[in-house]
Amino acid sequence: MCGIVAYVGKQQASPILLKGLQRLEYRGYDSAGICLNQNESFVVHKTAGKVSDLQKLVDAGIHEGTIGIGHTRWATHGEPNDRNAHPHVSFHKRLVIVHNGIIENFSALKVRLQSKGVDFVSDTDTEVLVNFIEDIMLEENLPFDEAVRVALNEVHGAYAIVVMDTQEPRKLVAARKGSPLVLGVGIGEFFFASDASPIIEYTKKVVYLNDSEMVVCDDHHFIVKTIQNEVKTAKIQEIEMELEAIEKGGYDSFMLKEIFEQPRAITDSLRGRLDLHGGTIKMAGLEEYRAKFLNANRIIIIACGTSWHAGLVGEYLIEEFARIPVEVEYASEFRYRDPVINQNDVVIAISQSGETADTLAAIDLAKQRGATIFGICNVIGASIPRATHAGAYTHAGPEIGVASTKAFTAQVSLLTMISIWLGKEKGNLSQTETLSLMTELEQIPSKIEECLKVNALVEEISAKIKDSTNALYLGRGYLFPVALEGALKLKEISYIHAEGYPAAEMKHGPIALIDEAMPVIVVAPKGAQYDKLVSNIQEVKARKGNVIAIVTEGDTEVKALADYIIEIPDAPDPLLPLLTVVPLQLLSYHIAVMRGCNVDQPRNLAKSVTVE
Ligand code: AGP
Repeated sequence: MCGIVAYVGKQQASPILLKGLQRLEYRGYDSAGICLNQNESFVVHKTAGKVSDLQKLVDAGIHEGTIGIGHTRWATHGEPNDRNAHPHVSFHKRLVIVHNGIIENFSALKVRLQSKGVDFVSDTDTEVLVNFIEDIMLEENLPFDEAVRVALNEVHGAYAIVVMDTQEPRKLVAARKGSPLVLGVGIGEFFFASDASPIIEYTKKVVYLNDSEMVVCDDHHFIVKTIQNEVKTAKIQEIEMELEAIEKGGYDSFMLKEIFEQPRAITDSLRGRLDLHGGTIKMAGLEEYRAKFLNANRIIIIACGTSWHAGLVGEYLIEEFARIPVEVEYASEFRYRDPVINQNDVVIAISQSGETADTLAAIDLAKQRGATIFGICNVIGASIPRATHAGAYTHAGPEIGVASTKAFTAQVSLLTMISIWLGKEKGNLSQTETLSLMTELEQIPSKIEECLKVNALVEEISAKIKDSTNALYLGRGYLFPVALEGALKLKEISYIHAEGYPAAEMKHGPIALIDEAMPVIVVAPKGAQYDKLVSNIQEVKARKGNVIAIVTEGDTEVKALADYIIEIPDAPDPLLPLLTVVPLQLLSYHIAVMRGCNVDQPRNLAKSVTVE
């Protein structure tokens, strides 16, 4: 949550900061601000609302300066208003800070500072931090970078920060622990940002900071050290991301662009791994931990939200193909319930962002207890891939819409490959079965192209149900997680209450909700449980429910019962989640647009949940 950006160099800082904040707005968008360091004083512009509101404020005010910091906020401490927006200036006006994270011991520090006469103007933990740093600097007569370092040793919690001092007007000090921070290295200029997207326009050279590392820089030099004062050799990496990947490219929203990118995203996920000629799946991380995977007593999958739904599909896949017991856990529950874990367990942690606080904490716990951790992540260089023993990137490309779409199908594609590999290596799948599954998987991108052709039809259906207040999603087997994912997509971007259920569970309660006002979206393509789903649809129709069914091309039985059908190509049961989810993504998208919702930045949400 929250995005931070900073610049020092020869260029005007405010356009760089504002453009950077726009790129980071997916991380939080309830208030925004920038501060420029000018002639021994700070120029601060900040406001509740979006970066576009901030832009107006900056345009109307003083905005010259070649060093500055910026922030877009997802509120934790204090409501989203002008006062609580970052940057925060310290009491004696020496320092200014932007911060992403939570300072857990802020209350105790605040009391300490108040007893010394410091007044606070906001409700934030961040204002406490900047005053704590200033207090150390003034009391101990330290340069401000050293005061930052000393202060961070007493701080509990998570942070990515950038700090400026009026007395050292060409210096930026940044640090991270638990929240992401990237340094961009230009010629005679440096950038900081929560991810590389604000930086790539100016330089492809970046340093991903590790936990408890800080950077001190001016226009020409930077130094990386730990907060224990150990100087580190910075590993400068070349990033491959192109600017087009983070722009809308003619689409109305990132979400729609990302839905339509799925054939390409899955092709990229499969590339170099699905070796049809050799008849094998190649994944370095699996090979490296081959013995651990093959001898695992069980596999535990940990994730949150949509990634958790992908994990559920993974459970069905791994148990069917490899016959290894799988448990799927919400990371937030796992980390706090003293789970039984041992050295023969393999944990698969799934995360698009690679920064989700609960998933990171669950990884740490499982690691401490001796499990082998395999990560599935989309964002290159994020914290989760660095915290795991091995892993694989989904290669879906930057996902900016808050509602996860292409990351889900890329995660499921990876889990499909992992399960086929495990099945083959464990001797449960024959070479013929393996090849047949791999061949089917290779065809998924072109079948998704077919699924996307239903867009106009889905838009028409959306118009019919857009005013509903509730919706029920039903599926069985591999399609139960798809029902959950469809319901999550609808509620997060359209604010319609929606529930996903295993279709058979309907009779154990939710059937009481069904009447003519209730859209029931049934994921009912041809497959092992098709006949059972047909019976479930009959039960819904008997209660006058409004059925929208996802069916296999040419279906007649469900067509005769349902109010609306959406056809998708045929595929084996284990691969159907990859196809059936696509019309559900489109359905939630169109409904949300028709209801006037901001699909890329739904209310109260942020793309990566870096606080628990
Ligand atoms: C998905 O649409 C959500 N916005 C959310 O549930 C998300 O999947 C969850 O927060 C997990 O994020 P991660 O994959 O980045 O860890």
